Amino acid sequence: MIHTHDCPMPGANLDIQRMPGHWLLARLGKRVLRPGGLELTQKMLDGLNIRSQDRVVEVAPGMGATAALTLAKQPASYVAIDRDEAAVAQVRRILTGISQQAVLGQAHETGLKDGEASVFYGEAMLTMQPDPMKRRIIAEAFRCLESGGRYGIHELSLSPNDLSETIKQAVQKDLSASIHVGARPLTVGEWSALLTEQGFVVESVAEAPMHLLETGRFVRDEGLAGTLRFLWNVLRNRHALARVLDMRAVFRRHMAHMGAIAIVVRKP
Ligand SMILES: C[S@@+](CC[C@H](N)C(=O)[O-])C[C@H]1O[C@@H](n2cnc3c(N)ncnc32)[C@H](O)[C@@H]1O
Repeated sequence: MIHTHDCPMPGANLDIQRMPGHWLLARLGKRVLRPGGLELTQKMLDGLNIRSQDRVVEVAPGMGATAALTLAKQPASYVAIDRDEAAVAQVRRILTGISQQAVLGQAHETGLKDGEASVFYGEAMLTMQPDPMKRRIIAEAFRCLESGGRYGIHELSLSPNDLSETIKQAVQKDLSASIHVGARPLTVGEWSALLTEQGFVVESVAEAPMHLLETGRFVRDEGLAGTLRFLWNVLRNRHALARVLDMRAVFRRHMAHMGAIAIVVRKP
């Protein structure tokens, strides 16, 4: 098993050629696993406007990169829920105090009480769910939030809004084959509709290019040392290198129609 500071890495026991793309990148040292990078995360966080009185829930924190930004805002409480045990362990490493928790669980069944949260968010996790599960997770966010509470998402998007079904299916098929996870991105209009159908009111929408594996974004997200560490790791393993190059080729092939979106909505 691969460990960081004695903590198991997600996907550490999986075969490199088959493991989900986000765990492969994490295993190679990448910490920021969402399509719009830290810049779009920052826009989502600006929209969520987390303050000291907030009770924050993060679903699917992964390696905990956004968790660290949220905890720096010193909210009244913070709960992270991920379905991967190693991801939960990674987030636990940065928690302090009894008002901060990371638990194993499912985003559509958090076990939280109605109206318990004032802020709820999740990044790079709805895209990988089939549409009915996307709806269940958004409905769960709505249930857990108090009236006036804010919900933020940061996901893969497609454009334009009237993109043909043929191209949508081609993107979905190529992406899923490359990252080894079913990926079902939506257009900006479809993401907004999914949120408003569940009762939310849209507050802000921000977009960014899908540059997860492009050099400029990589360095901005991971820093120079993190980027060099990633390169060192990937160049030493030809199977990992082949997979990363394939993912980047697919992202580039569909660059014209693929982007990243962050939406912040409010429960009335
Ligand atoms: C692509 S990673 C994104 C991690 C992190 N949010 C980021 O943007 O860097 C997807 C994460 O979602 C988690 N996940 C996926 N579906 C989930 C679900 N239904 N409930 C809880 N966690 C989920 C995975 O375990 C993983 O940690």
